[in-house]
Amino acid sequence: MLLGPSGSGKSTLLNCLCGLLSPDAGEVTLGGVTMVSGHSAAAADTLRRRHFGIVFQTLRLVSALSLRANLALAQKLQTGSSNRPAIDRMLDRLGIAHRADARPHQLSQGEAQRAAIARALVVRPAILVADEPTSALDQDNTARVANLLIELAEETGATLIVATHDDRLRPNFPGL
Ligand SMILES: Nc1ncnc2c1ncn2[C@@H]1O[C@H](COP(=O)(O)OP(=O)(O)OP(=O)(O)O)[C@@H](O)[C@H]1O
Ligand SMILES: [Mg+2]
Repeated sequence: MLLGPSGSGKSTLLNCLCGLLSPDAGEVTLGGVTMVSGHSAAAADTLRRRHFGIVFQTLRLVSALSLRANLALAQKLQTGSSNRPAIDRMLDRLGIAHRADARPHQLSQGEAQRAAIARALVVRPAILVADEPTSALDQDNTARVANLLIELAEETGATLIVATHDDRLRPNFPGL
């Protein structure tokens, strides 16, 4: 768990870890392969697509696509094909199966946040990076989402990295 006040650099660090930003100094390596350094990010896109699930603080759902299609796109980028039953199961686990055909702008903030989490989890990533994944959720959904992130990380052996500026969330992520 990455805890720190607003503006302390959590999102910046996560963006470097995912290869979306190049650090001013140092490098990020994954399994011995340099993902990004100050000079190059050549391997970053491929490694990110293959190994990472990312819940962005700003969500970054594709606005032209339904929720189901957002999840299918994530699967296609990772493996070349999509798996509808796995998509529907994931939407169901996050309590948004009834919104599967909605587009992102038609969702509440909390539903959109759960959709972004579903998209990151549906590819069963080796590394799951979640930036303030519960900031728009009510108390019940915060606990539900925190439990699900931990449960799925354990189920799939994924490394889970969660950033938050809210110290009160700590009990929701026991063991992180
Ligand atoms: N693209 C950018 N260009 C220049 N400065 C930036 C950029 N993005 C962020 N910053 C600055 O870097 C610092 C760290 O920002 P960052 O978004 O990483 O913080 P954070 O810890 O994630 O905060 P929060 O808890 O509010 O999400 C801030 O002072 C911010 O203004
Ligand atoms: Mg941030």
